[in-house]
Amino acid sequence: MKVFLTGASGVMGRSSIEALHRAGHEVVGLTRSSETAELVAAMGAQPWPGDLYDRPNLTAGMQGCDVVANLATKVPVGKAALRPGSLKAIDRIRLNGSRIVTDAARGAGVERIVQQSLSFIYADQGDGWIDEHSPVDVTRATEPVVVAEDNVNRIEVDGGTAVNLRFGLITGDDANTIWLFRRAAAGRSIGLGTEESWMHVIHPEDVGTAVVHALTAPGGVYNVGAEPVQRRDYVDMIARAAGRQSGHFLPSWILRLGAEKLEILTRSQRVSSQLFSDRTGWQPVHSRLTAEWLDELVPA
Ligand SMILES: NC(=O)c1ccc[n+]([C@@H]2O[C@H](COP(=O)([O-])OP(=O)(O)OC[C@H]3O[C@@H](n4cnc5c(N)ncnc54)[C@H](OP(=O)(O)O)[C@@H]3O)[C@@H](O)[C@H]2O)c1
Repeated sequence: MKVFLTGASGVMGRSSIEALHRAGHEVVGLTRSSETAELVAAMGAQPWPGDLYDRPNLTAGMQGCDVVANLATKVPVGKAALRPGSLKAIDRIRLNGSRIVTDAARGAGVERIVQQSLSFIYADQGDGWIDEHSPVDVTRATEPVVVAEDNVNRIEVDGGTAVNLRFGLITGDDANTIWLFRRAAAGRSIGLGTEESWMHVIHPEDVGTAVVHALTAPGGVYNVGAEPVQRRDYVDMIARAAGRQSGHFLPSWILRLGAEKLEILTRSQRVSSQLFSDRTGWQPVHSRLTAEWLDELVPA
């Protein structure tokens, strides 16, 4: 198949280019700068220069493509996430970008959209398992994610297929994990929420293989990640890789500073990805969080 990727140069995009090529697909990647165009070309994909908000240009780039995978994001990392307006760019991508990408795909006659989404939107379920029917908790922080899913579902009006992949927290050689790793190495707190609460995580490599499986998945919403891990184990795993005996948790009063932006990072989410495996045969290469996920962060 020929696949048009937005966010081609990001963590999810790079993983997807590799996995799509391994599976024999052709990739056109949206790029905003000459640097990212070179990166995407060096990976063997065809760069398509442009921005997410230029619909005619997107439609032109999508001509002849079978699938669009909308992987563009602008996730603020570390303390930047707490600054006023820190979610402005990512909210715009979710609220408007997903609509424009969907309109462009429809204009180009593309019949399938894969949208990157997030399992953070589920309500806290304590120790209970979460599947695709579990309730979502819509707040100021999560509403744009839900709207983005709705926007891409509009491809169904033309008889097309929308596949929303609700990924867990990407953990590996990426900007957010690197930030946590450095904080932990300095002996600083990295844990949010309670120690016994659950997290849904995914290795960057498994994002790409999931996008490949989404090319033929029945339309719908799917959770995509490794086995859930308890926060104490997650925090300790990063701290130990960073040379510490154990990790520390932030005091709960910090949550008042970050309000809804931080609240989503405290939810207990024991998310099952079984449906996606059952429907597509996808299995994560990295099925459970281990120290190897952090190998590339540890100085040689
Ligand atoms: N599920 C998750 O946990 C999750 C999901 C996504 C990201 N993250 C985390 O967020 C951090 C940052 O992610 P990242 O390194 O992938 O970078 P990023 O800054 O979030 O950018 C992601 C991609 O989106 C593209 N993009 C952003 N705005 C665009 C626009 N207006 N038009 C077209 N393309 C646009 C970027 O292109 P440019 O290169 O041109 O900016 C890039 O290719 C990482 O730590 C990552 O793990 C986590």
